[in-house]
Amino acid sequence: MKGWFLYEWRTRHLFIISSLVSSTLILWFWGNHHLFPPQAGESKDDTTNVVNLLLSASPPPSFLGDEGAASPLVSINTTPSSSSLDTTHHKNTTEIYKPPNKQDPAVENQACNFGRGKWVRDDNLPLYSGFGCKQWLSGMWACRLTQRTDFAYEKLRWQPKDCQFDHFSGPQFLKRMQDKTLAFIGDSLGRQQFQSLMCMITGGEERHDVEDVGKEYGLVKARGSVRPDGWAYRFPITNTTILYYWSASLCNLEPIDPTNKTTSFAMHLDRPPAFLQRFISRFNVVVLNTGHHWNRGKLNANRWVMYVGGKPNTNRKIADITNAKNLTIYSIVKWVNGELLKYPGLKAFYRSISPRHFFNGDWNSGGTCDSTTPGALEVSQNDSSDSIASGAVKGTNVKLLDITALSGVREEGHISRYSIRATPGMQDCLHWCLPGIPDTWNELLFAQI
Ligand SMILES: *[C@@H]1O[C@H](CO)[C@@H](O)[C@H](O)[C@H]1NC(C)=O
Ligand SMILES: *[C@@H]1O[C@H](CO)[C@@H](O)[C@H](O)[C@H]1NC(C)=O
Ligand SMILES: *[C@@H]1O[C@H](CO)[C@@H](O)[C@H](O)[C@H]1NC(C)=O
Ligand SMILES: *[C@@H]1O[C@H](CO)[C@@H](O)[C@H](O)[C@H]1NC(C)=O
Ligand SMILES: *[C@@H]1O[C@H](CO)[C@@H](O)[C@H](O)[C@H]1NC(C)=O
Repeated sequence: MKGWFLYEWRTRHLFIISSLVSSTLILWFWGNHHLFPPQAGESKDDTTNVVNLLLSASPPPSFLGDEGAASPLVSINTTPSSSSLDTTHHKNTTEIYKPPNKQDPAVENQACNFGRGKWVRDDNLPLYSGFGCKQWLSGMWACRLTQRTDFAYEKLRWQPKDCQFDHFSGPQFLKRMQDKTLAFIGDSLGRQQFQSLMCMITGGEERHDVEDVGKEYGLVKARGSVRPDGWAYRFPITNTTILYYWSASLCNLEPIDPTNKTTSFAMHLDRPPAFLQRFISRFNVVVLNTGHHWNRGKLNANRWVMYVGGKPNTNRKIADITNAKNLTIYSIVKWVNGELLKYPGLKAFYRSISPRHFFNGDWNSGGTCDSTTPGALEVSQNDSSDSIASGAVKGTNVKLLDITALSGVREEGHISRYSIRATPGMQDCLHWCLPGIPDTWNELLFAQI
């Protein structure tokens, strides 16, 4: 778990709490209790409330660095209503985004570390309206439809240091993806990225030409369930398909006794999800993620039993959740890397963990994230904050979509208290408002495909 960057914040002595361990509880809570019925292999009875918080603190990062004064970029005054900064203890200015000068010598993207840089204000954002995109954007993530009144978080653009790349454009994206298929496979944060991308491509406008091609991938609603295991849409104009498949664990789940209604599931830590095995030959870009479902409570509640090498796991070291997750992430990256040799047209990304921000408590003990300002604007570290993800892709041709640190300073971007279906007093400091931070993940994805 090292590599989690946690720091003391402002003068209010709040802490950013980044724990993978308990995240699944909130995912379960929002996912199963309020949004969806249980999935195959997902039970309703998550009784384990053992929450393992990883708490630590280190000195605050320089808030604005020293760039406010020295930078040639324009600065603006902000008022409390439109501010994205805390005016009490820090400089009350945010750099305004300036489009790059085409004459500037561009740094090769290969050499560029997209995870290092700063957030600057860009009034051309967001790329779609949170009042729109009803075709793809779930109401529960559309903060514009809630009581929230501060929306400065929609206007920050991530500017990687020393990188130049084309900004996202829907038509450009489709052109690049002509006759191609992009697949997101992962948990609900992957689903957020999927919805974000659909909205970004369409600018949030309703599109009657887009076809639902879920059937081609077996993504149909099973009898008795409220939603399918994923969605697939095709833009006929360029024959581009975008799909999302729900796989919270990113490993293969198999009923141990298919004839038993309450069967346990073999959770094959070292085997990729069957869906991915089956369809990878048809994908041109895959974006994988997992992380927030790895805890004992979740495994027990879902009746997931760890298997390794096709047999129940007997290795006590692997039985430790962190090691099991590590094994799965390394295994899937290794497997996908092998597939890259078979399919030269395939590009694969592993998306690093999306950070959560529960202050003064956890998801079930009054933890909050109701700041309206970012914790910081700059990320200067070179290494990923997700050491498992960066370790797993090292030496492979799978690329790291490293969003952890840049999202980690954006605590104000979560659904927070405005979660429309949560119990009063509980905040969603795991999922993000859309439009919002996941749009940036897609900007960085676009820059690399
Ligand atoms: C905000 O900016 C204005 C103008 O630059 C300055 O006069 C004022 O002191 C600043 N306020 C704080 C709290 O820093
Ligand atoms: C669309 O793209 C797929 C490859 O992703 C290709 O097999 C198919 O023939 C294309 N369809 C059309 C109508 O061009
Ligand atoms: C069905 O599976 C559950 C969970 O593994 C087990 O407790 C139960 O005994 C099984 N029922 C039958 C009839 O095998
Ligand atoms: C994860 O697994 C890899 C490969 O087995 C190993 O090299 C690495 O040390 C493990 N990392 C952790 C944090 O356990
Ligand atoms: C990050 O890498 C750059 C270029 O490789 C280097 O100049 C800089 O000192 C590094 N920063 C840190 C915090 O390690």
